[in-house]
Amino acid sequence: MPFQISKAVIPAAGLGTRFLPATKAMPKEMLPVVDKPAIQYVVEEAVAAGLTDVLMITGRNKNALENHFDRNGELEATLTRKGDTDKLDKVNFSTNLADMHYVRQGDPLGLGHAVLRAKMHVGREPFAVLLGDDIIDERDVLLSRMIEVQGQRNASVVALLEVDPEQAHLYGVATVEATEEEDVVRITGLVEKPAPGTAPSNLAVIGRYVLKPEVFDVLEKTAPGKGGEIQLTDALETMAIAPDWTGGVYGVVFRGRRYDTGDRLDYIKAIIQLAVDRDDLGPDLTPWLKDFAAKLD
Ligand code: G1P
Repeated sequence: MPFQISKAVIPAAGLGTRFLPATKAMPKEMLPVVDKPAIQYVVEEAVAAGLTDVLMITGRNKNALENHFDRNGELEATLTRKGDTDKLDKVNFSTNLADMHYVRQGDPLGLGHAVLRAKMHVGREPFAVLLGDDIIDERDVLLSRMIEVQGQRNASVVALLEVDPEQAHLYGVATVEATEEEDVVRITGLVEKPAPGTAPSNLAVIGRYVLKPEVFDVLEKTAPGKGGEIQLTDALETMAIAPDWTGGVYGVVFRGRRYDTGDRLDYIKAIIQLAVDRDDLGPDLTPWLKDFAAKLD
């Protein structure tokens, strides 16, 4: 029986400068995507894949994250008094979603550094990392497949998405070999945000990882890379080329729906895509949207 993974790590210490001034006093992870903060989609995805222990790597100005996943007595009392059980359920849902833990990153030294802050909490077990900028459609399977592949291969696993070659420089990009499974590739190299036109493939790492604890040993020795930051991609490249003691790295190629909320344009698109699909909003929004689009130049 493979080890039952239960821990998810969610780095959420970024300053969110792309969304200023909205993020001056509020974490970017709390920006609503339709009517739910972006971070709640990510925690819900972890829980749906069986991960009940969530560690968030936070920083200054992130108190709203802890409050969102905690009780709000005043709100609960008011809604109870009014008998508004619908809204009360919404309030209580995020409170009871997972067993939440928090650690601060301290210095903003990069994604690799943020993940290394999870070392004490995670211990020597495989664990998942979910980046808050990516939302995976709940109707499509990704994380549970990655957990399955991690167990079968006893390796670390990253999520890969085929992107337009012109977009590859925005991601970690993988060099891969096919395996006997159509959706699984063996990773032989990884490069963080290659200069435009130099990407080794169009397979981009999207923000889901299922990692062996050896990643901590590697991260401790990983020098700052792209942007002067300690890069998770660099640590995974080291693991990919040293499979003897790290177990190597595999990729699960995702072909489902992914919404990027990392910059303003993608964030607006994500809200529209998700709202159109919602039973409570789609039927009214869709005809309006068609009409609006038809009137655009
Ligand atoms: C991070 C990773 C990058 C990955 C991306 C996915 O970059 O460093 O390898 O492709 O997430 O969203 P960021 O977008 O945080 O700069």
